[in-house]
Amino acid sequence: MTDWESYLASFDGEPGYLDWAAFGPLAPSVRAEVHADAELLGSGRPSSIELVADHSREARELIAQLLGADAEQVTLQPSTTYGLMQAVYGLAGGLMISRGDFPSLTVAASRAADALGSIELQWLEPEGGYVTPEAVREALTDETTAVGVSLVDFRTGYRADLAALRDVIGDRLLIVDAIQGFGVVEADWAAADVVCGNGYKWLRAGRGTGFAWFGDRALERIAPVLSGFSGVEGDLPVDAVPLPAPSAQAFSVATPDHLAFARLVAGLRDVVDVGVGMIESELVARSGDVMYFAERYEIPVVTPSEAGRRAGIVALAPAPQDVAPLAASLANHGLTVTVRSGLVRVAPHVGTGADTLRLFGDALAAFSSARVW
Ligand SMILES: Cc1ncc(COP(=O)(O)O)c(C=O)c1O
Repeated sequence: MTDWESYLASFDGEPGYLDWAAFGPLAPSVRAEVHADAELLGSGRPSSIELVADHSREARELIAQLLGADAEQVTLQPSTTYGLMQAVYGLAGGLMISRGDFPSLTVAASRAADALGSIELQWLEPEGGYVTPEAVREALTDETTAVGVSLVDFRTGYRADLAALRDVIGDRLLIVDAIQGFGVVEADWAAADVVCGNGYKWLRAGRGTGFAWFGDRALERIAPVLSGFSGVEGDLPVDAVPLPAPSAQAFSVATPDHLAFARLVAGLRDVVDVGVGMIESELVARSGDVMYFAERYEIPVVTPSEAGRRAGIVALAPAPQDVAPLAASLANHGLTVTVRSGLVRVAPHVGTGADTLRLFGDALAAFSSARVW
């Protein structure tokens, strides 16, 4: 059982890491699990191999617990994108997605529309890139059957209001890419129909730890087009090709990587032990610290200042001529961030310490003193 103090202490990477939205350095519990399970898998003992395989069941149960859902409706996936593809390829009708959303959604939706001919893409181009309920309401048409959205936008850090989106879209499907918020912010999951994520960022579990949850409405309306041999009921289907399972299991292709899901279980257990609510309040405070320094050194921020509308991502939007000098100052101070499309994305986690924030403040001060107005 991990308590809050040991959770904070488990952030044992080097100071300067502010890129959790790109990759989360592995938690000590995750690293320990890998070593232990690798030994079990090396033993050649059936019981040991079974023990590792059982982590996939545990992973589904823990994800379901965090979603307030049934483990039967959770499938394990190689990544968020694979989960989203399972959902998107089974759609028909108008699918609304923000043009600026992460390519997991935009590319999968375009490919599915081209391949199947049954999907009409409805591109949303909301002001500032925020997928607000108002922007969705204005763009909805009678043809819209589904809306795809990121819980936390990878670029701006805007946290979508799932309950308000549900109010606006009625009983259309709401497909949520949750990778930038799952396990670190409380969301109204019951408002969603499909939730996809992966454990390699905020859950500190490494890649290959994706998942997708399909609620009742999604199971009714989404056809399991990409279903593979693991997506059937019963044992390995040989000498016959059965129909896809009538459950969420249909949205799977092959046997999961149990060692990957052992990692996910370790990462999720830490989260469940300390509680998402606790993590959220601390994370929002850390992203608030980043915003404080940005304001102090007059660097524009495109992330909402309202605590409920952001999570761990803060996007700085310096003037175009300032992007390279700011990026250089951050790098010179030993800070890791993502610089893309004119934005500097800064993403602390709850364990980001005062030492890292001090370096961040120093980097902004150095940039600011050299800035030409
Ligand atoms: C919003 C969002 N969705 C999806 C992905 C990619 O997820 P995965 O690698 O699990 O497919 C990322 C990666 O940065 C992301 O930020």
